[in-house]
Amino acid sequence: MNSNVHIFETNQDTARGVAELIRVKAKEKNKLSLPLNIALSGGNTPKLLFNLLAKEYVDTILWHFIRLFWVDERCVPPTHIESNYGMTYEHLLKNVPIHDSNVFPIQGDIDPATESVRYQNTLKLELPSRNGIPKFDLILLGMGDDGHTASIFPNDLSLLHSDQLVAVSVHPESNQKRITLTGQIINEADDVVFLITGASKADVLKKIIHREPSFENYPASYIHAQSVPAHFYLDKAAAEKL
Ligand code: 6PG
Repeated sequence: MNSNVHIFETNQDTARGVAELIRVKAKEKNKLSLPLNIALSGGNTPKLLFNLLAKEYVDTILWHFIRLFWVDERCVPPTHIESNYGMTYEHLLKNVPIHDSNVFPIQGDIDPATESVRYQNTLKLELPSRNGIPKFDLILLGMGDDGHTASIFPNDLSLLHSDQLVAVSVHPESNQKRITLTGQIINEADDVVFLITGASKADVLKKIIHREPSFENYPASYIHAQSVPAHFYLDKAAAEKL
């Protein structure tokens, strides 16, 4: 199996693998007296990671060296059940000693086009840049059953190559507006990690990882970190067809 594919027995073990990666990266940055700039995804899978971090990593991760941003946000208020920030606050932020000044939410409750520009400017201000593009140390991604990632959906692959760093997208089924990082800034990150669990992802993952026919239809196929492949942290269920 490719060295960038990491398969764990259970979804909990998979989340722990990512938690350990964050712990090690924060420690490395601490030695350089630098922050660890992470962009988080939403959805359900990250809850596994956030709950584990809140329960077992409060004292083992150097939280004051971590700065949190978001990969995408649903255009809803932070108190809405579908808010990625709201989910992250409930499962992680309220349980760990991270300072508010190190948390940079996408504002889901203001005009999406206005917020996409504001957030792009925030990233340019708050992150170091490489090749003129703001650079994250680590981007944590999930993947939908349809191979979408961030809020880049199969019916709008242009967001992978957009000149904008942050764009407005629309969920193809719910028509819910989203604000999302685009392919350019995601692929500029030092490290990109997919946290993917569950059998429902297995078919698409096989096509993406093995570059099988139709892989080009899936946004997750176009994601890498700099010039190296993204890392896939998978439980056995998600990896069952690899
Ligand atoms: C979002 C996420 C999205 C998510 C996938 C997988 O805002 O929903 O950024 O890209 O990672 O939809 O979601 P699950 O983890 O719920 O399967």
